[in-house]
Amino acid sequence: MFSLSLAGTLPVQGTVVAGQWDDLYSFLVWLSVFFFILVVGGMIYFAIKYRAQPGFRPKYITGNHALEAVWIVVPTVLLMVIFVWGYVVYRNMVHPPTDAYEIRVIGRQWSWQFQYANGKSLLNEAYVPVNKPVKLVMTSSDVLHSFFIPNFRVKQDVVPGMYTSVWFEATVPGKHQVYCAEYCGTSHSGMLAQIIALTDEQWTAWNAGKPLPEIPVAGETLASTQGQGADAPAAAPKVVSLADKGKQVAQTKGCIACHSADGSKLTGPTWKGIWGAEEELTDGTKAKVDENYIRESILDPHKKLVKPYGPVMPVFKGLVNEDEINALIAYIQSLK
Ligand code: CUA
Repeated sequence: MFSLSLAGTLPVQGTVVAGQWDDLYSFLVWLSVFFFILVVGGMIYFAIKYRAQPGFRPKYITGNHALEAVWIVVPTVLLMVIFVWGYVVYRNMVHPPTDAYEIRVIGRQWSWQFQYANGKSLLNEAYVPVNKPVKLVMTSSDVLHSFFIPNFRVKQDVVPGMYTSVWFEATVPGKHQVYCAEYCGTSHSGMLAQIIALTDEQWTAWNAGKPLPEIPVAGETLASTQGQGADAPAAAPKVVSLADKGKQVAQTKGCIACHSADGSKLTGPTWKGIWGAEEELTDGTKAKVDENYIRESILDPHKKLVKPYGPVMPVFKGLVNEDEINALIAYIQSLK
């Protein structure tokens, strides 16, 4: 059936505010269509009807007060309707309820870190309850980023040196994609995260540290997400090993741009087979690749340079935390 709402052409409506924005959007589109037809249609009609004809002299028109009043009043009323409507929805979007659940977010090149009040810290995924307001208090540790959740129709700049916030109340359980919406360097397009909206039951289980079932993409079922039949075996609870976490860190921190995992030579030494090796340094001494050497080489990479590499690696002091260093070490250990 034909519907005036264009919501079907837009991403999943994951919040109440998303529905309100979509209604305003549909109104603006149809209003534009109406005036487009009126103006362009009128133009074509008059161009044909009053085209140059032999023996016909056009009248010279100087003014029409009634017509002028109409084209002032009608657009003014329409613009005020759009302004007030937009203002009301904007207010709903920017003012979180006072009881919102807070999560802290740090944007950095090129990942999103989520910190919970209870000390939980997650990279590129945030678990939130459905039907409860959630407020993200955000900052950046390097450059300007922008936190964008299309399904929730909210977007907010993430700025170094200050806090900004965004809030939402997810109404659809499942995974909601997050994008960085401000160009922030090489891997800007890979600066992705997921908001995973959990049902009450799942939220309680997650907070108690219990494993969760596989969560589908919001608006889809697991079968369509995975492209399998409904009778596919239930997926085992996802347990990420420290080495796998390290692999993810290597991708999000951009390590893999210079350090290969397969032995190929890039800007920096490959990680394959490096664990436990004696490396010859540019100052003629040797160093054994162990936990302390890797840690030092991440935080202060120019101190012990492996021959023949130059001092080109950025200093990662303050850009990786102990969790991530441990994970990276475990990943390098796994690359035999
Ligand atoms: Cu961060 Cu683009």
